[in-house]
Amino acid sequence: MSEAPATNIDAPTEPAAAPSADLPGQASNPGAEIEAVEVANDTSLFEKVVNLCKNRGFVFPSAEIYGGFRSTYDYGPVGVLMLRNVKDAWWRSMVQRRHDVVGLDAAILAPPAVWEASGHLANFTDPMVDCRSCNERFREDQLEDLTICPNCAAKNSFTESRNFNLMFKTHAGPVESDAAVAYLRPETAQGMFMNFANVQRTSRKKPPFGIAQIGKSFRNEITPGNFVFRTREFEQMEMEFFVPPEDAGGWYAYWCKERFDWYVGLGMDPAKLRLRPHDADELSHYSSGTSDVEFLFPWGWGELEGIANRGDFDLKAHASASGERLEYFDQATNTRYTPHVIEPAAGATRTMMAFLLDAYDEELVRGELRVVLRLHPHLAPYQVAVLPLSKKDTLTPVAEEVLGLLQPHMMCDYDETQAIGKRYRRQDELGTPCCVTVDFDTLDDRAVTVRDRDTMDQERVPIDDLLAHLRARLQL
Ligand code: GAP
Repeated sequence: MSEAPATNIDAPTEPAAAPSADLPGQASNPGAEIEAVEVANDTSLFEKVVNLCKNRGFVFPSAEIYGGFRSTYDYGPVGVLMLRNVKDAWWRSMVQRRHDVVGLDAAILAPPAVWEASGHLANFTDPMVDCRSCNERFREDQLEDLTICPNCAAKNSFTESRNFNLMFKTHAGPVESDAAVAYLRPETAQGMFMNFANVQRTSRKKPPFGIAQIGKSFRNEITPGNFVFRTREFEQMEMEFFVPPEDAGGWYAYWCKERFDWYVGLGMDPAKLRLRPHDADELSHYSSGTSDVEFLFPWGWGELEGIANRGDFDLKAHASASGERLEYFDQATNTRYTPHVIEPAAGATRTMMAFLLDAYDEELVRGELRVVLRLHPHLAPYQVAVLPLSKKDTLTPVAEEVLGLLQPHMMCDYDETQAIGKRYRRQDELGTPCCVTVDFDTLDDRAVTVRDRDTMDQERVPIDDLLAHLRARLQL
């Protein structure tokens, strides 16, 4: 006999016999009992998401047991899954599904010659001022009022502005001499330029073609902040697309659209996205045109990605500094030229945060607050949670069988503790699109209940059909 409706109470605050909108095996009409809650896109949303990240295992402050370390963060059990999903979704769209882009994983450490050629030693700086009263440092261009310190309110206390280079400097090897100086890369891009000839020769690609890379970058930001929005250690997803010079404009427009559509395709609300062309005075030292994909964060519009028309600046700079030829020889026309570069450069960690903010939702289910992350199934840490209705040994073998059936194909959570309603709520907060509940009827009918995160609707599905059913639902 099924124990489902009678013995498992959805929320602990509910009376035991209350009809539940969200119990396994129960014909339900949850829609009638759900009230939408307006979630304002303001600091309260930001705080809720930061707290959820910490309490559910997405993101922890780094070195927390020592009081934390300067805006660095660790990605917890579900955060590492989601960050990996963001990067995988990017890789699938930028490399796997294209024949004209190949991958690379270049070194993080590089000698000064690289950064001299790229312009980073001279130009990768922010204007910095110190408050003489409290000694706090600020980026001059981020101060609203240059006469009052936002930290201690001292008047006219700022020093003259000076340029602060954002690269992290270290020494390679045991001797801390000038000859051993090395820098941690502040962007992944230079690895792609330095390997242009290696990749072009070995992959036999000809322009237009791209080199894509995902990896850590480091910037000694003067004012990191807003959680993982601006950190000193972060991950980038960058692609350098090498094109014949005369085609650069067309490819720039192509990549602007393509990259904007990527966010929308993964469920981001288009009303919170915009493509903003840079004004001439905003352009980086290498760029002849840049547009940012921006997201409406709780504090206003902020950059997720820049798409830049870098011209031939990088290949020419490295060719002249290294003495190597970084050109393409077109056999068809018997001409040699330096390709121009279109670069879509996104932040993986920042983008993950934007997806979390966008997905966060609240509603009242029969008066109880339900928090739900409406993440795209490809981004959610777990695609499925397998939940045996009770911890009784009789259910364990079939629950493990179901888990074993699904695990090779998708990321699964397995949870047999607490009441089923609480487990559903926990999965809602992790953004798990489907819960699969194994109950006592399963022992007789070899079917399970599949519960939908967004609608809370439930459907009985035979175990034999489960994988195909979930694959269709989760677009796997
Ligand atoms: N190669 C070009 C380049 O690095 P960028 O606009 O400086 O361009 C690209 O960086 C993306 O990297 C940004 O749009 C942002 O998403 C991310 N990013 C940059 N600095 C960051 C930081 N301090 N913390 C987190 N993400 C950052």
